Amino acid sequence: MAEDYQKDHAGKELALEARASEAERLSSPSVARNRDAIRDVFCDHMPDMGTVLEIGSGTGEHAVHISRRLPDLTWTPSDPDAASRRSIIAWADYLNLTNVHAPLDLDVAHADWFKRPDIPTPLIGMMSVNMIHIAPFEAAEGLFAGAGALLQKEGRLFLYGPFLREGKTAPSNHAFDESLRSRDPRWGVRDLDRDILPLARRAGLSLQKVIQMPANNLAVIFSRE
Ligand SMILES: C[S@@+](CC[C@H](N)C(=O)[O-])C[C@H]1O[C@@H](n2cnc3c(N)ncnc32)[C@H](O)[C@@H]1O
Repeated sequence: MAEDYQKDHAGKELALEARASEAERLSSPSVARNRDAIRDVFCDHMPDMGTVLEIGSGTGEHAVHISRRLPDLTWTPSDPDAASRRSIIAWADYLNLTNVHAPLDLDVAHADWFKRPDIPTPLIGMMSVNMIHIAPFEAAEGLFAGAGALLQKEGRLFLYGPFLREGKTAPSNHAFDESLRSRDPRWGVRDLDRDILPLARRAGLSLQKVIQMPANNLAVIFSRE
């Protein structure tokens, strides 16, 4: 099992980790580190009943970790990457989780992605972990447009990742931002105040909570007005 993954000099993993695999179940080293903290914040601030759509689910490990704790949630994962979707199915099967549905092939940078008829509605929640900085800004724009269209009133959107606040962040996040942009100039750590809050306002979402997480990440919760 390959456990090696690249780190930049500040200790943050680079965008594309090498993921270990067992059959089709992929394991991400970063998820091993952050999944408990993310699950606990999710349990404290997100609904525990109803349907949640996850965007950019990756290996599916967050989906199964949270869904095991919250059996009254119905979880629809998604990812544009086929190997990730296979991993999500394999994890849900392995753990016999009936509340994790088959993953959808969703790319939120595509205009009108949220108009697909196979997206379950109404949605009480949406979640996206470590996605908007490792994708063109159109993905963040599409994520919020979709949240505005799909979330029911008072439904919540949960984002997790590194962010700038008014241009400022920890040195490790600045270094991570540089490493991302050197890989793809369209990627980069987003500024919560300057880049993201305008998208939320436009989509009819209000900022509910910003929670400091380990390794200079934030959990950010929005509510559909
Ligand atoms: C760094 S991985 C994070 C995966 C998972 N959320 C986690 O925390 O382990 C970023 C994920 O976002 C997905 N992604 C990238 N661009 C996307 C887009 N435009 N729409 C939806 N997902 C996207 C990738 O396929 C990848 O699985």
